Amino acid sequence: DKMIAVVPAAGVGSRMAADRPKQYLHIAGKTILEHTIDRLLQHPMIDRVVVAIGEQDPYFPTLPLAENPRVTRVDGGAERADSVFSGLAAIDDPDAWVLVHDAARPCLRQQDLQKLIDEALASECGAILAAPVRDTMKRGNGRQAIAVTVERSDLWHALTPQMFRAGQLKQALEKALADGAVVTDEASALEHCGMSPKLVTGRADNLKVTQPEDLAIAEFYLQHLLK
Ligand code: CTP
Ligand code: MG
Repeated sequence: DKMIAVVPAAGVGSRMAADRPKQYLHIAGKTILEHTIDRLLQHPMIDRVVVAIGEQDPYFPTLPLAENPRVTRVDGGAERADSVFSGLAAIDDPDAWVLVHDAARPCLRQQDLQKLIDEALASECGAILAAPVRDTMKRGNGRQAIAVTVERSDLWHALTPQMFRAGQLKQALEKALADGAVVTDEASALEHCGMSPKLVTGRADNLKVTQPEDLAIAEFYLQHLLK
């Protein structure tokens, strides 16, 4: 079975508030986007990467990645789900496995990737990397006070990659978006359609670089843990 990675990389990085979208910031020798795509292409089962880039983006064409025959650029959309959907439209085979992975997660380890692939291939409808919640969880009452403590057992942080059949994910996203469901990751679209993707325990160092302080942490992982 061939596997294709879809990388949404059309965000503006408003919380990072840098001089460019965060995926183009340099850490550990290259841009975050290059780290992310290199890590995916390094896996022997991943044939190619479809990357969703903002239509007016001036940065992507300057990267060597833009000339890589294993990398296909598509136009991103207004929301992350639109960018993913645009990536899926570039995949003809509905039975192909897709791994959707945030451009902003450059610290993915090959062991986690392999674990996810193994579990997804053995699953009914796909699987996602996730990390068990560590802290005590509170639900607020809307006025900055605690309403209730949420039972932490079996509560997970959803990470990426998330791996599904291309056709099934496309249909689920279409339905979820048409129904106005909240779709903040791929699994939520399948959940909306009554499916239960597998949770695969991944490492918490697969962080989504979001705020300025995350850059030093990601750089640390890239330099010290990934080599
Ligand atoms: N993304 C995308 N298309 C969008 C919005 C987000 O492809 N319309 C991508 C981002 O580039 C990122 C991933 O989805 O790789 C996760 O989104 P997030 O971390 O929220 O990135 P941004 O939306 O860029 O950041 P912010 O929310 O702070 O503006
Ligand atoms: Mg965002």
